[in-house]
Amino acid sequence: MNKITIAIDGFSSTGKSTVAKQLAKHLGYIYVDSGAMYRAVTWFAMQNGFINESQFYIQDLISNLKKVSISFKFNINLGFAEVYLNGQNIEKQIRTLEVSRYVSQVAEISEVRELLVKQQQNMGENKGIVMDGRDIGTVVFPDAELKIFMTASANTRAKRRFDELINKGEKVSYSEVLKNVQERDYIDSHREDSPLVKAHDAIEIDNSNLTLQEQFNNILQLVENKLKEFN
Ligand code: CDP
Ligand code: CDP
Repeated sequence: MNKITIAIDGFSSTGKSTVAKQLAKHLGYIYVDSGAMYRAVTWFAMQNGFINESQFYIQDLISNLKKVSISFKFNINLGFAEVYLNGQNIEKQIRTLEVSRYVSQVAEISEVRELLVKQQQNMGENKGIVMDGRDIGTVVFPDAELKIFMTASANTRAKRRFDELINKGEKVSYSEVLKNVQERDYIDSHREDSPLVKAHDAIEIDNSNLTLQEQFNNILQLVENKLKEFN
């Protein structure tokens, strides 16, 4: 059976990674969370003092990018790959609201994008991959056989992310999560390099009123139709 490339883009907390993981598991494909890679570079910058509450030392971060080595290792208990920075599992550290506060500024830097996009393209060389992010269908895999663009209202998305953070024990308020989601939407959609836009050939899915199961079923149907075309 010929394998395809599936690109899932969209705004924060639209359910991209949830459905991407489900699809990868169902199809026996690799799943790559490209956002985790931008979060890993952000974590690296924070750990090395290139970002703090008042300053962002962009040039220092750029000249230290060669020290960044990101890898993914499959965790059989979780059923997906966790992200490692220079050999350290940083899956928990990168999901905090603090990393979310800085990540879109890091993702605006072209040198960072160049480094990560190359790595992402290498991972998808043999197809059989589901990758989610902001520029997967436009920049990373412009020839992907299936492109999905996920949307949902900002309030729905912020509520989802807020519940997630609270369940993980983070002390955050709904209003700061909403503010972060809206700020990232704005920066991600307006940056010069690889902004978040729907690829002309992407299929848009608004899942504001879809359950996880409904969303998975809808997208799986699209995948199955696509697979028929290529097999
Ligand atoms: O999980 P959530 O949708 O909130 O974010 P994420 O997928 O972990 O991505 C975090 C941030 O990384 C985004 O807000 C973007 O600034 C950046 N990103 C990007 O620029 N390009 C990608 N392909 C993936 C993420
Ligand atoms: O990857 P992305 O940031 O787009 O979103 P996610 O991490 O897959 O989903 C964010 C949260 O929204 C998760 O807790 C999902 O379970 C939840 N979600 C939902 O409840 N219903 C949906 N239709 C989509 C996502």
